Amino acid sequence: MTENTYRIALYPGDGIGPDVTREAVRLLKELPGVSFHFEEFPWGLEYWKQHSQVVPDDYLDLLADFDAILLGAVGWPLELPDHVTLAPLVRIRQAFDQYACVRPARLYPGLKSVLAEKGTDEIDLVVIRENSEGEYIDNGGRFKQGGMEEVAVQTALHTRKGVERILRFSFEMARTRRGKMTMITKSNAQRYSYVMWDDIWEEIRGEYQDVESSKQHCDAAVMNFVRQPESFDVVVASNLFGDLLTDLGGILSGGLGLAPSCNINPEREFPSMFEPVHGSAPDIAGQGIANPVAAVLSAAMMLDHLDEPESAGRVRQAVEKTLLGGQGTPDLGGDLSTSQMGDLLISHLE
Ligand code: NAI
Ligand code: MG
Repeated sequence: MTENTYRIALYPGDGIGPDVTREAVRLLKELPGVSFHFEEFPWGLEYWKQHSQVVPDDYLDLLADFDAILLGAVGWPLELPDHVTLAPLVRIRQAFDQYACVRPARLYPGLKSVLAEKGTDEIDLVVIRENSEGEYIDNGGRFKQGGMEEVAVQTALHTRKGVERILRFSFEMARTRRGKMTMITKSNAQRYSYVMWDDIWEEIRGEYQDVESSKQHCDAAVMNFVRQPESFDVVVASNLFGDLLTDLGGILSGGLGLAPSCNINPEREFPSMFEPVHGSAPDIAGQGIANPVAAVLSAAMMLDHLDEPESAGRVRQAVEKTLLGGQGTPDLGGDLSTSQMGDLLISHLE
C-alpha cells in the first residue's frame, strides 16, 4: 500500500498549546496509510524572550509551502499583552485568505450537555464564521481621547465577494451533511450590511434547491441554540456573530476541552490552519491536565481537508470510544493527565 505523506507546520504556541499538540501529533503518527513530516516552529512567549518578537520576520514565507498548519494555542497575558502574541494568528488567517472558520458543535455519546433535556441526537451542528472581514476589520478611530467629548468610530466592512463566497461554502457544506443551512444576521436593525447579506442569499439560493435554507436574526438564534439546537445543521454568520455563536456551540457540546476549529482557504492557494477553539489556559498550564481532545479533533478536521476521510473517521471513532468509556481529564470530571488521555485515545484507534 502506498502511503500519502503530508508536510505539516506545527505551531504549538504557549501555555497548554504544546501539551495538547503533542498528543495530537502522537496520535497522527499511529495512523495507518498516511504519514507526516512535521516541522516545529517554537514561536510565542519563549521566542519573544530571546528575540524580542513572538515570530521571526519571515514567518509567513516559512509557513506558505506546507500542506497544513497545526496550531496549539497562543497567548500568555501574564507576561505579554494578547494583541502581541495573537497578532501573527490573525495575520496568518488574513494573509492566507482563510476566510471560512468552521466550528462543529457535536455532543459525543457518553457526555452530558449543559442543556438538561438535549442529547447526542439534538446537538450536532456546525457554525461557519466569516473569517476575513465584517465587524473585525481594523477600521476606525478615537477622537478627543479621554475627555467628556470623546468619540469612537468603528465601521464594519462587508463585501459582495466576501459574503457570496462564505454563503456558497456553507451551502456546499450543508450538502455533505443534513442538507440544512441557516444564515444569521441582524438585518432588521442594520439595514445596509446585513440587508446585503439577505440580498445575496436571495440571489444564489436557487442554485442550491436541494438545501433547505432559512434566515434568522442573531438574537433569535442564540435563544434557539438553547431552546431547540436540533433545528440547526449548518449555520453561517458574520465574523462577530460567528464568534459569539461558536462559544455557545462549544459549551453545548461539552466544553472547550472538546471543541475543534479550523481556518480554511477553500481554493487551496494557501495552507489552511487547524486549531482548538480554546486558548492557552494559563490557569491549568504546566500541570499536565489539559484535555487534548479539542486538538485531536482539530487534527481530524485537517485529515478531512487533506482528503483523508478514512483517517479522519478513525480519529473521531477513537475519540467517541474514549469518551464513552467514561474516563477523562479533570474538565470531564475524570483524573487522567493529558498524556494518559493521549494513551487512551491511541489505544482506541482501529
Ligand atoms: P482559554 O480557552 O485559554 O481558557 C478558558 C477556560 O477553559 C479556562 O478555565 C481553561 O482552563 C479551560 N480550558 C481551555 N482549554 C482547555 C482544555 N484543553 N482542557 C481543559 N480545560 C481547558 O481562554 P482564556 O483563559 O480566556 O484565554 C487564555 C489565553 O489564551 C489568552 O491569552 C487569550 O488571548 C488566548 N486565546 C488564544 C486563542 C488561540 O490561540 N486561538 C483562543 C482563545 C484565547
Ligand atoms: Mg471567540
